[in-house]
Amino acid sequence: METAMIAATDKRVYMNTFGERFPIAFAYGKESTLYDLEGKAYTDFLAGIAVNALGYAHPKVTAAICEQAQRIVHYSNYFYIEKQALLAETLTHLSCFDRAFFCNTGAEANEGAIKLARKYFYDKGEDRYEIIACENSFHGRTIATVAATGQKKYQKPYSPLLPSGIKNVPYGDANALKAALSPNTAAVLVECIQGEGGVIDGGDYLAQVRALCDENGCLMIIDEVQTGIGRTGTLFAYEQYGFEPDILTLAKALGGGVPIGAVLAKEACCAFGPGDHGTTFGGNPLACAAGLAVISEIAREPFLSAVKQKGKYFKSELVKLQAQFPKKIVDVRGRGLMLGMELAAEIKNSAVQKELLKQGFIIGVAGHNTLRFVPPLIIREEQIDALLGVLTNYFRKA
Ligand SMILES: Cc1ncc(COP(=O)(O)O)c(C=O)c1O
Repeated sequence: METAMIAATDKRVYMNTFGERFPIAFAYGKESTLYDLEGKAYTDFLAGIAVNALGYAHPKVTAAICEQAQRIVHYSNYFYIEKQALLAETLTHLSCFDRAFFCNTGAEANEGAIKLARKYFYDKGEDRYEIIACENSFHGRTIATVAATGQKKYQKPYSPLLPSGIKNVPYGDANALKAALSPNTAAVLVECIQGEGGVIDGGDYLAQVRALCDENGCLMIIDEVQTGIGRTGTLFAYEQYGFEPDILTLAKALGGGVPIGAVLAKEACCAFGPGDHGTTFGGNPLACAAGLAVISEIAREPFLSAVKQKGKYFKSELVKLQAQFPKKIVDVRGRGLMLGMELAAEIKNSAVQKELLKQGFIIGVAGHNTLRFVPPLIIREEQIDALLGVLTNYFRKA
């Protein structure tokens, strides 16, 4: 099918939740490059929205998926699943957590984490049900996670929000959190770096959240759906902020493109027992085989230090660009290969995105007029330089 025909069919029969899509469909990808149906190449700085950490057609991930698909894709969680047990063991071994639960998406992982926190206090006989999340956050599109997602544009059409007991406080404001915490608070749910919110780094706020949770006696849930699996230069972003959460959620990069989400938790708060939670697909052999292949590539040196080094270089070059065009670029933020560049009001982030796409570069937009760069972690320095070249030209003319 040609792209125009796909577009016509899509417009006729697909629910239009994604707005005006770019008039491109991809045929295949290799490393950090995508090729459309007409054969045009694009260097990818979006990676399927921070999913394809190892790029496209990574030989080890592809082999693991093919091998597993030839044996068995799915049976059910009524039985033991070797790859599920191994992936849980790997993730807990590499983190401060003791147990894992697998699901299919980031939203589902956050739902699981919220349920786990509530169940923990239910078992203890404490009346703690409230979840505090941050304004400008993003935690998913299900009815509970949209309540946690502190952005009116996502919440308004679905009000009154379910479930009750979810509050939003300003991100980065420890005093506001302190005031919002109560004897009914079960957990604070927070991102280390707000991704969809515009690549906003929580910095010292995160350790303050930890301290306030301890003081209050509630749990701390870190949403690492976007920051996890090497994106910021460590396997998990929390490692860089000097605290340990009680519960952590993952998805996106974990399956290298195969849908998988995870809830990781410390033993002390693993309150789920038989029947308390469940899933049909979550943690099936195919998704876990992909997850194991992804982790075995990313959770090692020199892979992670290369992410840090490339991120440092990329960010310093973006900062130089800001110095060159101070009236057009307002801010450069982020860490590792999760970077954002906020633009002045007269330059629309979506216009930059469209122009770069014409020139063969895929970038994201997020938050307040911000360009978001979340390339495959295998991106090469010369590809970063090529992007910087087209950005420089753009700002020169803009
Ligand atoms: C931090 C964060 N949490 C949760 C989600 C939701 O993940 P999913 O779209 O897989 O449900 C996202 C998606 O962008 C995210 O960035």
